[in-house]
Amino acid sequence: MSYETIQIDRRDKGVAWIIIDNPPANAISEKLMTDLEQAADELGADPSVRVIVITSAHEKTFVAGADLKAMIQSGSQYAGNEAGIVQQSVRMQQCFNRFATLPKPVIAAINGHALGGGCELALACDFRIMSKGKIGLTEVSLGLIPGAGGTQRMTRLLGRAKATELIFTSKRLEPEEALQIGLVNKVTTPEKLVEETTAFAEQLAEGAVKAMGLAKRSIHAAEGPVEDGFIIEAHSFAQTFKTGEPAVGLDAFFQKKKPQFLRSL
Ligand code: COA
Repeated sequence: MSYETIQIDRRDKGVAWIIIDNPPANAISEKLMTDLEQAADELGADPSVRVIVITSAHEKTFVAGADLKAMIQSGSQYAGNEAGIVQQSVRMQQCFNRFATLPKPVIAAINGHALGGGCELALACDFRIMSKGKIGLTEVSLGLIPGAGGTQRMTRLLGRAKATELIFTSKRLEPEEALQIGLVNKVTTPEKLVEETTAFAEQLAEGAVKAMGLAKRSIHAAEGPVEDGFIIEAHSFAQTFKTGEPAVGLDAFFQKKKPQFLRSL
């Protein structure tokens, strides 16, 4: 199959790498979502693929989140089209959920910034191994909220107190801090990320991966239906566009200034 924004690399022992390559910052465009879904279909259906790793081709960034340029360009359309915005959020939730529901282990090898939707994609994976950059749900700093499953997955992973703190403050965590709170499973150096991720992926691949797939489904069931939360998240994401805050936050981001939300009152 052909892809524009990712490469697929099938390596030893049934470990397949999805390498995201959507310059300049691996923002989540419609094409990237289509490619990720196609990759989930292809690798999910291939019995020779036992474990999937998701990483980035870029030096500094794993995934920089939703495509903010596209969001600004379609600003007027967003302002008056709540159903359309809900659909955008649902679109990203469903794309990332493909990996959360794939009956095979999925590892995020985070080799740079994983912010906003980048953190949400990593949260949809079963394991997170990080070498450098910052990780966090940064949407509130832009007047938005996480709309690709982040409010649901971070709360389930870290608990309500920590998730509330991190989401409200939009904190960008260093790898070591993310490790301490359990947001990532392992931290390594940039030089060793591929080697250590490969060793862990191969260890999983040598195991009973079908049992892991079934355990994954059961673990999700233990947490209750995430889909209910997805609906509330998507509608809340859409309602942020009625507050006036995204206009302030997005404008400040591209002007490289601190957003002045107080003045937006
Ligand atoms: N959507 C669209 N474009 C983005 C983007 C995004 N989410 N994040 C970065 N870019 C673009 C920048 O505008 C810049 O484009 P330009 O070269 O045309 O000016 C380019 O990617 C490089 O970004 P820059 O900020 O200059 O690089 P950096 O290495 O200094 O910082 C990040 C990288 C990822 C830390 C920084 O870009 C960032 O904080 N991005 C936003 C992250 C975020 O809050 N995402 C949540 C979205 S809901």
